[in-house]
Amino acid sequence: MKRPGADERIVAWLREGQGVSVSGEELARRLGCSRAAVWKRVAALREQGYRIEGRPSGGYALVGAPDRVGPAEIAPHLTGTWRDVHWFDEIDSTQRVARDLARAGAPEGTVVVAERQTAGRGRLGRSWHAPRGVNLYCSIVLRPPLAPATVPQLALVCGVAAAAAIAEETDLRPAIKWPNDVLLERRKVVGVLVEMESEMERVHHAIPGIGVNLNEPQSAFPRDLQGKATSLLAVTGRRVDRAAFAARLLAELEARYGRFLSSGFSSVRAEWESYSSLTGVEVQIVSPEGERSGVVLGVDDDGALRLRRADGEVVRVIAGEVSVRGGYA
Ligand code: BTN
Repeated sequence: MKRPGADERIVAWLREGQGVSVSGEELARRLGCSRAAVWKRVAALREQGYRIEGRPSGGYALVGAPDRVGPAEIAPHLTGTWRDVHWFDEIDSTQRVARDLARAGAPEGTVVVAERQTAGRGRLGRSWHAPRGVNLYCSIVLRPPLAPATVPQLALVCGVAAAAAIAEETDLRPAIKWPNDVLLERRKVVGVLVEMESEMERVHHAIPGIGVNLNEPQSAFPRDLQGKATSLLAVTGRRVDRAAFAARLLAELEARYGRFLSSGFSSVRAEWESYSSLTGVEVQIVSPEGERSGVVLGVDDDGALRLRRADGEVVRVIAGEVSVRGGYA
């Protein structure tokens, strides 16, 4: 596990003080540096938006923190073992950064988060709307000791984890649309994209990228997304602490990922089905094998969608894009 940087540690110590000042001398002692060096770090933190008051006693007190999803903000909320958070104010795509880190040997559980993405990637070559400072955009480097063919199931595991995090945060019951979109009031709040690099039988790394619309006002979504996307803020009227939510999501995912590795997708299948918005619904699916329609029966233990066609035949769909007559979702 990576040791947190000096800024992150100063913020953590000042947070522990809960408004009571910590002396510069004490901070210098803990960091093993001079008081002048501490002063420089404090000045840099102020530049980043931390409100740190200098007290006449020579101490520092944290009285306000920026709305950011950086390591210093996420760290106090983390409960799992994934703690190495790489934060960017602006980046093309957290997927790209996570892939580069993975190629360079980053260990499992390395997390990449950005305030804004200029080239956010969605499924099926689409783009992902990723404006600054309102939502969560994160990617996680994983190294599952699994056959490459099982990696798509990881997307369903991520969908369940995101749905569970939202249910805890809001008391709402989100719906999952196969394979891994999470919806509130029939509009998308979470998108999951899993990318991987592998050999025939061995996965080098898998990178789930998760986008969650948290604090974006409904009116801020582009016109073409108005009917399709929403946010937790738009649905509940309440702002979400993005850093706390990020930590919650990571914890939910890490727990389910552990079960997925030891017992397969069947370990989260019942939970997935409990969120499914499609069971019993007639759908059309455009997949690489062509277009199919039928009534959704559920998912199999490998995450494939089970569909009963009009002629009664039950077919399995492994990949594809679902739509529901009447424009639902
Ligand atoms: C979808 O099309 O539903 C998947 C969207 C995935 C978006 C996330 S945001 C964080 C990560 N970085 C990206 O560029 N994409 C994923």
